[in-house]
Amino acid sequence: MSYNISITKTQSSKLDQLDFDNIPLGTSFTDHMFICEYKDGQWQNPRIEPLRPIPTHPAAMALHYGQAIFEGMKAYKNAEGTPLLFRPEHNASRLNKSAERMGMPTVPEELFVDGLKELVALDHAWIPPQQGSALYLRPFMYATEAFIGMRAATSYNFVIMASPSGPYFSKHIRLWAEKQFIRAAEGGTGEAKAAGNYAAAIRPTELAKAKGYDQVLWLDAAEHKYIQEVGTMNIFFKINGNFITPELDGSVLHGITRLSVIELLKSMGYQVIERKITIDEIREASRNGTLEEAFGTGTAVGIAYIKEIGLENETIHVSEESPVAVEVNDTLNAIKIGKIDDRFSWMTEV
Ligand code: COI
Repeated sequence: MSYNISITKTQSSKLDQLDFDNIPLGTSFTDHMFICEYKDGQWQNPRIEPLRPIPTHPAAMALHYGQAIFEGMKAYKNAEGTPLLFRPEHNASRLNKSAERMGMPTVPEELFVDGLKELVALDHAWIPPQQGSALYLRPFMYATEAFIGMRAATSYNFVIMASPSGPYFSKHIRLWAEKQFIRAAEGGTGEAKAAGNYAAAIRPTELAKAKGYDQVLWLDAAEHKYIQEVGTMNIFFKINGNFITPELDGSVLHGITRLSVIELLKSMGYQVIERKITIDEIREASRNGTLEEAFGTGTAVGIAYIKEIGLENETIHVSEESPVAVEVNDTLNAIKIGKIDDRFSWMTEV
């Protein structure tokens, strides 16, 4: 089924107010948004409109019971100026996995991808041409029904907005291995991209930053021993020439950058093992000199290189240099802007 998306264009574009050389992530928004409503058991009236505040009833269930999920992805431009999306069907399926976990309706993949394409086509002039810049896309869904009580809402909005973002210059970051607070417990919502997961991470992240660290390294809820994620990213370690990353056990986000990095590393001849990893194992590898690199992967940042991990009263040293991670990052970025062959067929033209 192809969706008939109606389009109302803005009369007053804000594009001329954008300084393309200085766009911090998440601070500017394009002229339009995609929106459709779920009611009576189906998605209705998909359309693109000028970006505007959306009226919200004070009893909207998203505000009280947290039925709110989102996605993060980016659009790029190739040398010919054609907008490109990175693996959008994976974002559609992850949104729907999140929706199922949170008792929300799923969005047909075609509606998700058509909505993205129409919005990116209309606001393509907002895709920053500078190397390393992109148009961050934020599809999200939240419960709109006005109701006080514990059950799934019967009405929702699905919205896509777009926000140009400048290049992220990655310095090597320091992590704080968190043993007081947890991000996700077995059987919880860890693998869902649910707003509440991010809310619960805000205070521990502030505390880690106050101690001089950049991000939290999340450990498992039961034993504070197994590594899950870093900040809002997945994590990889290079030990003795091989890469390891925590397995997707229900508490780890199914990162699309994570998946792509695994595929890329394998194509470069590396072994990539998805399994449980303890913080003690990483400390031991650092001590015996086999811990070669560590890095986080996520949409917003791409790849964030890790130089050390604070753990209670000690510091686990990783590395000030991450040559393989840098190569992976450069290759990924080159594929995304069509500079090298898209040998994995990851890119979708708009
Ligand atoms: C992303 O990497 O896209 C995220 O969703 C993280 C967000 C906090 C910017």
